[in-house]
Formats: sequence, C-alpha cells, structure tokens
Amino acid sequence: MRFMTAEPFRIKVVEPIRKTTKAERTEFLKEAGYNAFRLKANDVYVDCLTDSGTSAMSTHQWSAMMLGDESYAGCNSFYRLEESVKDIFGMPYVQPTHQGRAADYIMARIYAKPGKYAIGNMHFDTFRGNAEVLGALAVDYVIPEGLDTTSSAIPFKGNIDIKKMQKLIDEKGAENISVVIITVTCNNNGGQPVSMQNIREVSQLAKKYNIPVVIDSARLAENAYFIKTREEGYQNKSIKEITREMFSYCETATMSSKKDGLVNIGGLFVTRNEEVFQMANQLAIVHEGFITYGGMSGRDMEALAVGLQEACDENYLKYRIEQVEYLGKKLKEKGIPIIEPTGGHGVYVDGRRFFSQIPQHEFPSQRLVVALYEEAGVRAVELGACAFGSKDPVTKEPIWPALETMRICVSRRVYTNQHLDVIANALGEIYENRKDYKGMKLVYEGPITALRHFTAGFELIK
Ligand code: F0G
Repeated sequence: MRFMTAEPFRIKVVEPIRKTTKAERTEFLKEAGYNAFRLKANDVYVDCLTDSGTSAMSTHQWSAMMLGDESYAGCNSFYRLEESVKDIFGMPYVQPTHQGRAADYIMARIYAKPGKYAIGNMHFDTFRGNAEVLGALAVDYVIPEGLDTTSSAIPFKGNIDIKKMQKLIDEKGAENISVVIITVTCNNNGGQPVSMQNIREVSQLAKKYNIPVVIDSARLAENAYFIKTREEGYQNKSIKEITREMFSYCETATMSSKKDGLVNIGGLFVTRNEEVFQMANQLAIVHEGFITYGGMSGRDMEALAVGLQEACDENYLKYRIEQVEYLGKKLKEKGIPIIEPTGGHGVYVDGRRFFSQIPQHEFPSQRLVVALYEEAGVRAVELGACAFGSKDPVTKEPIWPALETMRICVSRRVYTNQHLDVIANALGEIYENRKDYKGMKLVYEGPITALRHFTAGFELIK
C-alpha cells in the first residue's frame, strides 16, 4: 500500500513556530510590498518559500561538527569533505564555495562568454543573473512538455530538447556556444528530473562539437532517485552508482549544498579538468576563501561531508519524494491544477489555470502567494511573470514566460504531513472562492531583471 512508510527518523529537537491572525498577516503583507521574500520568517507558520538551507540536520551531522577544524590551509575538515564528494561525484578536483551561487559565479567566469550562447534545460536565476552581467546569452531548451502544465505525466520533464540544441549549433556554429548546463532536477519547472539517457545524449552531442557540459547538481540525489525508480535499467543500481554515472558525462559540476547536502550553507565546484580547477582555485581565492575552505567553516564542511552521504540513502529518498507526492495528491483531490507528476522538492501550482480571470501581466501566481499567506500563514514563492519575466533588450517591451506557477517547497526532514494538510486545506478554500480575486501591479523592480523577484514591490488591484 502506498504512503504507508513513515519518516525514517525520530524527532529529537523541535523549533516552535508561531501562529498569527489574518488581520496581522494583512498588515505584514502591506509592509512587505506583497513580496514573500520581504516577510519576516517569524511571521510565517509553515515556510515553503524554499528548500534551500532549510533542512534539519541529523545527530550524525551535529556530532561531526565537533570535529571541525578551522585551519586556513589544509584543514582536516576539507579532506573529509573532499573524500565524501569524490565518492558521490566520481570526479577528482573539489573546490568548496560558501554557497551555490558562488560556484555559479566561478563557473560563469570560466564557461560563459560575452555574446556566446549558454544552453540549459532551464537556467537557475543566479546563473542567469551572472550571464546577464557577463553579456552571455542564456537560453532555455527544456523539452516542450516541460513547459506545458497540462501535458500528461511523462517521467522526465527536465530533459533538454536535443533537436533544438542541434539546430542552434547548425545555425550559429558550435564556436558560438560556450557551454551546456544541465540542471538536475530542473528547479524552474517543478523539480522535474533529467533522465540518464538525456544526460548521455546531450553529452555525446556536445562532445562532437567540443562544447563543455556542466551539471548544476543542487538536487543530485533526488534526480538519481527518479532515475532509479522511473528509468529502464537502473532499478538495481545504487544511488551512488547512478550519481557517478550522471557526472561521468560532464566536465564540471556546481552544487548548492543547501539542498541535497542537507545543510544550511555551502556550495561546491567539482571538476575533472585540471586546468579548469586551477582557474577555479584562483577565482575562489579572490572571491571566496582559500582552496581548502572556499568560504565555508570547518564545522560546515564536516556537516556537509555527512549530509551528502545521508541524502544518498534510499530510505530517506523514498520518504522524501513520497512526502512531496503526498502534497500533490491532496491538491489534486481538490481539483487544484499542478504540474504533474510532482517533482523532487515541491509542488508547483499553475497560477494561470488557478486564477483564470487574472491575465499574466497582473501576476496571477503572485496573487496566489499573497492569498495563501494571508489565509493560512503559509509562505510559498512565485515562479512566473515576475521571477521569469524578461524584457526585450532593444525595445524593453516585457516578455512573459511560458510557465506561470506558485512553487510550494517542502523542506527536507522538517515538516510532517499534517503541516502539508494545512496547506492543502487552505489552498482548497481559496480555490473555491477563486472568482473573488483580482490581480496585482508591479510597482518596484531592481535594475537586473533576472533578479527582480527578490526585491520587487506590488500593489493589489482593487
Ligand atoms: N542552482 C540551483 C538549481 C538552485 O536551485 C539554486 C538555489 C542555486 C543554484 C544557487 O544556490 O542558493 O546556494 O546560492 N536555489 C534556491 C531556491 C535559492 O529557492 O530554489 P545558492
């Protein structure tokens, strides 16, 4: 019987969370410019803004932290982390960074070139921000089903469209494509996995034209679990056998360890190319810290060394993926339109289908984020017109994205299914009254469009 497995841990420490009244939340929203990023965490009941840096650590991680040594160069903690990373990535060179975007920055400085294309399934916003600053052209080539929230439940909606990739190579010339970045799982369209076959084929095509492949591996273990459970030929392989095969097809991997590292901070730049590693070392020294800590403390490296191993534990992954699936099932029972199948780290609600009367330029998913917080104190995040909207570089006319969603992230080992029921019930009620809602107006945005959602300000349309 499904959903009968319980958490593969018991709870030893708890963090009290605060309930607020609807009247209070209405005020908090006004003060925050109706932007969930600007709310105080203390005013949130169930926090589903992100799955990043929000994991609960295990007793093994906490005790490993006592081993942390803070030596500037050559500390023991680094070597323990290096061993754990090599075991999972199967690559020889490891540069820690303070978090994922620092690894993104180093990667962008090495692989993104002004005026040249960086192909991705869907680039994460910090790489996109780096590309925008460096003048590189970041293009998203996820398969069409990956952008269609009504498409049938196909298993690997994070895959790159190989034909589109070939077409760009033919039209622009391989010398104008500086890198291919595969994000596993694909954060922007539902935490959807990428199949091993797709990683292999993308890599073969890139190799033919001498284009380097990078894997953005924030959620590597979740992707490996989907390969194991959904892809022919992997049922009897271990998670680590699968991760090592995934990385055998790339030159370099970046990782925000705040996700599948099961820690609160940290990042990794991992490569098999010695020259690239040397360059990464130099950039780390200038921007992050010395080669053997890269902005992380010894204690944090110890926690990560253990966390990476725990994330590859199959019992943990089964519980993890099924918990997200549980929330998706509850929402579907209420008729709420979501991306299916549910992915690795959250459930994504289709804002356009939810509020069909609100046009995309009036931010339907953002309206849903505001409604969910106001009704239930639950914080989710918009991934739609605000986060993914862009502007024509010449005319400055707005370009609206194909996907318009609200992402409800599920933190790792943090909430129980009863917390998820609170979310489902609140959304169910909003859905029943969906016709009563109007849209929103964007009244403030920062200068880098790719990053505007973090600081944007909105007003409610009356
Ligand atoms: N790459 C991916 C795929 C990510 O999801 C993130 C962060 C990063 C890189 C950057 O890593 O935060 O450690 O600097 N994603 C978070 C999120 C913030 O909410 O999805 P970071």
